[in-house]
Amino acid sequence: MGSLEKIYDKHINLQLGWPTPLLFPSKLLTEATQETLLNNKVAAQTLVYGPDPGHELVRTGTAEWLTRFYHPEVGDVQADRIFITPGASSALSMLLTRFTDPSFTQYIWMIEPTYFLACPSFQEAGFHGRLRGVPEDTGGLDIEFLRSGLVEAEAERCRKKTTDGLAFARSSKVYRHIIYMVPTFSNPSAKVMSLRRRKEVVQLAREFDALIISDDVYDWLRWPHPNSPDGAEMPKPLPRLVDVDCAMPGSSIWGNAVSNGSFSKIVAPGVRVGWIEGSPFIAKELCKIGPVHSGGCQSQLSSMLIGQMLVSGKLEEHIQSTLIPVYQRRHRAMLKSIQMHLLPLGFKIPSIKTVEGNGDEAGLAGGFFLYLEFPTGSPPAETVAKVALEEFNLRIAHGGMMCVAGDAGSVQRGKKGFGQGARLCWAWHEEADIDEGIQRLALAFRSLPQCTGAIKQLQTDET
Ligand SMILES: Cc1ncc(COP(=O)(O)O)c(C=O)c1O
Repeated sequence: MGSLEKIYDKHINLQLGWPTPLLFPSKLLTEATQETLLNNKVAAQTLVYGPDPGHELVRTGTAEWLTRFYHPEVGDVQADRIFITPGASSALSMLLTRFTDPSFTQYIWMIEPTYFLACPSFQEAGFHGRLRGVPEDTGGLDIEFLRSGLVEAEAERCRKKTTDGLAFARSSKVYRHIIYMVPTFSNPSAKVMSLRRRKEVVQLAREFDALIISDDVYDWLRWPHPNSPDGAEMPKPLPRLVDVDCAMPGSSIWGNAVSNGSFSKIVAPGVRVGWIEGSPFIAKELCKIGPVHSGGCQSQLSSMLIGQMLVSGKLEEHIQSTLIPVYQRRHRAMLKSIQMHLLPLGFKIPSIKTVEGNGDEAGLAGGFFLYLEFPTGSPPAETVAKVALEEFNLRIAHGGMMCVAGDAGSVQRGKKGFGQGARLCWAWHEEADIDEGIQRLALAFRSLPQCTGAIKQLQTDET
């Protein structure tokens, strides 16, 4: 045991979905701080209580930056659609506070495997036991599964004859359902939802009075997939769900989709700034949240710094010239190491197949994660993860963690499907540690007596 400890004394964490501190734009933030606080007029506007939806400079800067990136079909993003938040996690709770009511809102539908850290926010908002998983398929989300769940929920409501009065005392608009997802470079599956599926989900949300909350936090970190042919053109970013909702005829004044954005992955999590884009009604309604009404914009100082970086174009430059090249290299290093050490053991990377088969986003890679599928006949991924941690000082996020909390169906599906996998993040460690981590995972797998079953199965499949 002593020798093991000596060999594996460096902890490797491929679970952590954090951006690497080496890439934090400290210099740019320092410059933005000086420009902001050494100018008396701007400093005065920065250090008072901020306007409830965020300062005009930040909202306009964000709207123009989004327009440059997405080129929405309906035209430029308008500043009155933007509400500045303290990041996507808080924004989720804000949306639930204002647009749901457990006495009216029936279910929270979450794509599965799911971003498991979102579950407590839904539970805290009063939805314990009412989170429902919706399996992900190659297009992004099993639309028929969702539809039948919504139809069943409607039948249940009619049976129970729920009274709706209470809900409308709390807010001007309460939705019947929430649909939560990460449609681009999903956390955890890395999949990109096809355009067709995006349209189908919006259609369904309209039919069943649902609000889609789409965490659009990885969209900017995109590069050609190493498998795509040399010189192949990068596909343009797909429209967000909120863009699809705006562009499809028949949208309501409140809308049925919001984009929950964050600067955590492209600036630094510590700045605690993000934005919600939705209809102007949504943006206005969010201003009525208690702490906002009392204290103004919840990230006034740091959002002003980000606003400077947006207006000067320095954030775009940072993403293109620093973040993308580094993450692209790390992604490549992880793939190479998996190809060398894990594919021969029968592991698979479903996200590559999916992206290639997707059509809309073919040849693209991005975000922070890849999802590794364990071989047929493998010991449970959870067991491998435990051994990896205890014996090899390596942490991975096994698929069982990605179940929708409190949904027995999701747990059941997880056992057969996504549970036998793991989410690996390439954003935190440098290439050498990524390679070392993958090698340790192969060793952890091989060290389990049950893994011989999987290896035998692989040999049979190959003959
Ligand atoms: C899908 C998703 N949503 C939200 C967050 C958290 O965002 P923020 O730091 O803006 O709260 C993360 C971070 O890992 C994430 O992956």
